[in-house]
Amino acid sequence: MPQSSGTQRETWGSKLGFILAAAGSAIGLGNIWRFPYVLGESGGFAFLLVYIISVIIIGLPIMGAEMVIGRGSGLNPVGAFRKLAPKKLWWLVGGAGVLTGVIILSYYSVVAGWALAYLLKSAFGFIAKMANAGEASAAFDAFTANSPLVVMYHLIFMGLCLLVVSQGVQGGIERWSKILMPTLFGLLLLLIFRSVTLPGAGAGLSYLFTPDFTKLNGEVVLKAMGQAFYSLSLGMGVMITYGSYLDRRTNVFSSSVAIAALDTGVALLAGIAIFPAVFAMGFEPAESIGLTFKVLPLVFHQLPFGAVLSSLFFILLTIAAVTSAISLLEVMVSFASDELGWRRSRATLVMALAAALLGIPSALGFGAWSGFTLFGKNFFGLADALTANFLLPVGGILISLFVGWFWSRDAVSEEYKLELKYPWVYTVWIWSVRIIAPLAVAIVLANTLFKF
Ligand code: TRP
Repeated sequence: MPQSSGTQRETWGSKLGFILAAAGSAIGLGNIWRFPYVLGESGGFAFLLVYIISVIIIGLPIMGAEMVIGRGSGLNPVGAFRKLAPKKLWWLVGGAGVLTGVIILSYYSVVAGWALAYLLKSAFGFIAKMANAGEASAAFDAFTANSPLVVMYHLIFMGLCLLVVSQGVQGGIERWSKILMPTLFGLLLLLIFRSVTLPGAGAGLSYLFTPDFTKLNGEVVLKAMGQAFYSLSLGMGVMITYGSYLDRRTNVFSSSVAIAALDTGVALLAGIAIFPAVFAMGFEPAESIGLTFKVLPLVFHQLPFGAVLSSLFFILLTIAAVTSAISLLEVMVSFASDELGWRRSRATLVMALAAALLGIPSALGFGAWSGFTLFGKNFFGLADALTANFLLPVGGILISLFVGWFWSRDAVSEEYKLELKYPWVYTVWIWSVRIIAPLAVAIVLANTLFKF
C-alpha cells in the first residue's frame, strides 16, 4: 500500500505557521462578503453573541475532532478513516470530503478570478469610469458574461494556487501563509482607518453593532450556527489534512481557539472596513456578489484615491481567497500522494487541473451557460448550495460522531490531551463532540432541507 509507507511525512515548521495556514483556510469570502451583512441584518451585537456561542459549541468541537483525526492518523481524510477504522465504511466520509473539496475549489476559484480581474481593473482606472449604481452593476454583468475572459482569470488564479501548493507544506503553504496573512491584516487595518474616519461613518458602525435582541429567533440562531460552521472551513477534512502535518508538541485546543478567534476577528474587522464607508457614501447595505462587485467599486469611486483603495480591497479579497483555495487543493493533493502514491508535483498538477475543468461550467454560468438553471440556480449557485448546505454539514456530523462514539476512546483522549493544561477542557470538548455539535449541525441541516 502506498499509504505514506516509509517516507517521513512533512510537518509544519512552527505552531504559528500552522495557525496562520489554518486561519488562512477559514478566513475567506464568507468573512468578507457575508458575515458583516448578516451581522448588521440580524441584530448586531445580539447576533454577535449568538455567533460566538455557535463558534464555541459547534466550531471548536468539530475543528478539534478533525485535527485529532488528522494527527492521530498522519494521513489525508480517506487514508485517515481507513487507518483508524479498518474494514469499515468510514473512509467514505473522507472520500466525500475530498470530492466536496474539488467542488468548492472549482467555484471558489471562479469568484477569486473575478477578484483578481477587479484588482487589475481598479489599478488601471476602470472604477473611475463608473457614474452610478446602474453602471457599476451593468459593468459587472458585462464582465461576468464575457466567458473567455472569466475562464482565463479562473485559470490564472488556479495557477497561483498550484504554484504555492506544489512547493510543499512548509515551503509552500506555510511560507505563503506567513507572508499573506499578515499582509491581509495590514490591509484590513488600512481600509478600516479610511472607512471609519469618513464623515457619517457612525451610521455604518451602528448598522453593524446596535444590539437588537428582538431579531433573535430560531431562524437567526440557525443562521449563526451555519455561518460559524462554514466560516471555519469544517466538514470536509481541511483540518484533518492540516492536522496530519502537526507534531506532537502542539496543543489542539489552544490552536483551535486561536484559529477561531482570528476567523471571527477578521469577519468583524471586515465589517468595520466596509459598512462605515458604504453608509458614509450613501449606499444601502447588501451582501455577497452585489456588495463586493457592485456596491463597493462605486463607494471607492466616490472617495479620494479610490483607485488605490479599490485595488487594496481586491488584493485583500484575492489573498483571502488564495489561502482558502490552497487548503482545498492540499486536501486533494494529500489524498493523491498518500493513496495513489503520486509525487507532489504530479498530484498538484492533476488535481488543480481537475478543479479548473470542473470550474468552467461555474464560470460559464453567468455568461454562455446562463440559460442552464436548476431550482432557479445556475451551475455556480448549485455547486455552492450542494456543498455549503448539504455536503459540509453531513460531513461535520459524521466526523464528530466518529470521534465521539466510534473511534477508540483512549486514542481520542490521548491525542486531544497532548500539552493540554486543564483536563476539564477535554471533558467539555468530548461531550460537545458526542452530542451538542452533531445535534446542532443536524438541526441546521434539517432546517435547510426542510425549507428546500
Ligand atoms: N471558510 C471559507 C470562507 O469563509 C469557505 C470554506 C468553506 C472553505 N469550507 C471550506 C474554504 C473548506 C476552504 C476549505 O469563505
